[in-house]
Amino acid sequence: MIYDLVITNIGQLLLPDQGPLKGGAMKQLAVEKQRALGIKDGRFAWIGSHEEGASLPAREKVDAEGKVVSPGLVDPHTHLVFGGSREGEMVLKQAGVPYLDILKQGGGILSTVKSTREETEAELFDKAKKHVRQMAAHGVTTLEAKSGYGLDRETEWKQLKVVKHLNEQGDIDIVSTFLGPHAIPLEYKGKSDAFLEEMIAMLPEIKKQNLAVFTDIFCETGVFTIEQSKHFMEASHQLGFQTKIHADEIDSLGGTELAAGLGAVSADHLVAASKQGIKQLAEGETTAVLLPGTTFYLGKDTYADARSMIDQGAAVALATDFNPGSCVTHNLQMIMSLAALKMKMTPEEIWNAVTVNASHAIGQKAGRIVKGKPADFVLWDVPNYQYIPYHYAANHAKMVWKNGRKVYERMDADVF
Ligand code: NIG
Ligand code: FE
Repeated sequence: MIYDLVITNIGQLLLPDQGPLKGGAMKQLAVEKQRALGIKDGRFAWIGSHEEGASLPAREKVDAEGKVVSPGLVDPHTHLVFGGSREGEMVLKQAGVPYLDILKQGGGILSTVKSTREETEAELFDKAKKHVRQMAAHGVTTLEAKSGYGLDRETEWKQLKVVKHLNEQGDIDIVSTFLGPHAIPLEYKGKSDAFLEEMIAMLPEIKKQNLAVFTDIFCETGVFTIEQSKHFMEASHQLGFQTKIHADEIDSLGGTELAAGLGAVSADHLVAASKQGIKQLAEGETTAVLLPGTTFYLGKDTYADARSMIDQGAAVALATDFNPGSCVTHNLQMIMSLAALKMKMTPEEIWNAVTVNASHAIGQKAGRIVKGKPADFVLWDVPNYQYIPYHYAANHAKMVWKNGRKVYERMDADVF
């Protein structure tokens, strides 16, 4: 057999185990030295030693020069599709105006809603596509994308269609989430129940047209209550959706307990999760998706308690939360650094959190290097896997492959 591609001289090959990895299992990360990979028809076809790999017949060979190869990263929480930008809010934040106050004044999410309503589907598509390219350039080969900047039928629909078309046309797998209840639009001010029903009424058609796999809701003071979130999640489950929730980000409302109790696929943010909530995550099936980039970007000092979550037995994943207001970065590697610096996660836990656990949090089987599985992987210009969280805010990706096809190659000089 002639392989399409053989990667030789891999210094460290990272082989996360099947997820979800809970608690202490997150500390385990198989790292094999001096390896090679053979790719055929877009899939991993052979994994073995560098010596054997060097003699395999292949159409193309890449010498990894002793550097690190990992599975493609998975970003399980992004707000990918939006109009406009919100750099003007920076001075408000500097002046100490809280995130929820900006929202209350019609800014924040609602300012992005205005821009997103104004832009055409084609404009939103072009922008989102560029964001996806940037994420891929940073090593991401599968990601989740939420709607939630429409807050009306027409615009939510427009966002969901953009994600569908991106997924069909693009290089990267994009898993769609309907986040209709992301805020209360100005036209429904004081009528959040009526707005929620309007969003629930969209669910059957979204299901029918297969426009989303998950639903999500922003459960927070001044946005949606625990009771409203429960109602929305139950309605979603009844229609065959799996659920996610923006929970306990700012105030400790009990969204973590709600998610674990209802068997949500993930509960995201969790900065203010209670002890009871963490216990329930450890006992249940819900993955904690932590977003330290958002805490950093909002200028807060308290981060989600990843240590308690892992030490008590929960499955933790990491994501960018890429969006135009509360975390403006494409770079999941930066999030890996914040997880190390601010949440005291170990390198092994971090790698599992951005591969298999992230994949599990969006119902995918990505994030692993396994014979017969799609060849999604990254060659990193680093001497070892601990180096990526250590050297922060850089892009260490040298080459990125999706389904065996190179989707990114760095042009500037190597560091190692
Ligand atoms: O996950 N917290 C709510 N939603 C997003 C932010 C969206 C925005 O500010 O535009 C988040 O942080
Ligand atoms: Fe978010």
